[in-house]
Amino acid sequence: MTAPNITWIAEDPVSRHVLEVAEKLADTSTTLLITGESGTGKDQLARWIHERGPRRDAPLLKIDCASLPAELVESELFGHERGAFTGAVARKPGRLELAQEGTIVLDEVAALAPGMQAKLLRVLEERTFERLGGTETLRMEARLMALTNTDMAKAVESGRFRNDLFFRLNVLAIYVPPLRERRADIVSLAKHFLQRLAPVHGRAEASFDADSLAMLQAYAWPGNVRELKNTVEHALVFGEKPSLSPRDFPEIVRTAGNERGITGMLRSLEDLEREAIKLTLEATHYKIGQAADMLGISRKTLLEKRKKYGLI
Ligand SMILES: Nc1ncnc2c1ncn2[C@@H]1O[C@H](COP(=O)(O)OP(=O)(O)OP(=O)(O)O)[C@@H](O)[C@H]1O
Ligand SMILES: [Mg+2]
Repeated sequence: MTAPNITWIAEDPVSRHVLEVAEKLADTSTTLLITGESGTGKDQLARWIHERGPRRDAPLLKIDCASLPAELVESELFGHERGAFTGAVARKPGRLELAQEGTIVLDEVAALAPGMQAKLLRVLEERTFERLGGTETLRMEARLMALTNTDMAKAVESGRFRNDLFFRLNVLAIYVPPLRERRADIVSLAKHFLQRLAPVHGRAEASFDADSLAMLQAYAWPGNVRELKNTVEHALVFGEKPSLSPRDFPEIVRTAGNERGITGMLRSLEDLEREAIKLTLEATHYKIGQAADMLGISRKTLLEKRKKYGLI
């Protein structure tokens, strides 16, 4: 049995809760939907869950639905027979087959083309599939994890994503909150990345000074954990002394830190407003008139804010 090697730093009670839920989900084979803003750690969590479950000795294979053309998603997932299409010179097994009893991760599942959505639904219902151009029926043994940073309810509402497929994927769901909602993680994550990245940059002796830690804690991290990781790397590359100080960090992080009080507050107010609008839209099933009434603003203002916050 392989020992887990993926760590998921969880210092904040919010992330500890995520990890407790994840631990329970690791033992099941049920389809899992992992949602959360970009950079929050969805990929990392999918691997963490895979490594802690009974499928840990089988592969975890991933397909990025957003970056691959639709035809490629299909042949990557199901595989193809020789001659299935121009250029298919030999039989190629798909990831679903190669994953065996492991895990298939569909990254950015909201980007699946309509045709693929229908095919995936069938596979999930029947647990069987065929290679492209093939007639042999194969069983799906792998567990499926779908990841997305898109609001799926909204994608369903606007007709971009099939409702029936959403229900199939959403049997078990786990939401990874943005870093700004679990601030107690910031220092632990920063130290974790420092420890891992410092030797890579020949800076094994590097540490954060007190001001830089305070600055990291004050920043809003719109790019979440990925942004924090990049920031630590930036400081390692630009810092010259063993002790990293605020001037070694990217300007955006530094500036927010200098104007700490005001910038921090403005950001969190905006966050609150965005959250209120998002929840109201969801509660009213995106009925603009009703949502505007509940929020006590005009339709026009709501539409403007919805656009501003990317809630379309
Ligand atoms: N809790 C954590 N502990 C340690 N490392 C983490 C944690 N969360 C995220 N990371 C690291 O942060 C980076 C971003 O995480 P990841 O790629 O999992 O984000 P994501 O949610 O999949 O983003 P996207 O939606 O853009 O694909 C990765 O390098 C990952 O290893
Ligand atoms: Mg990802």
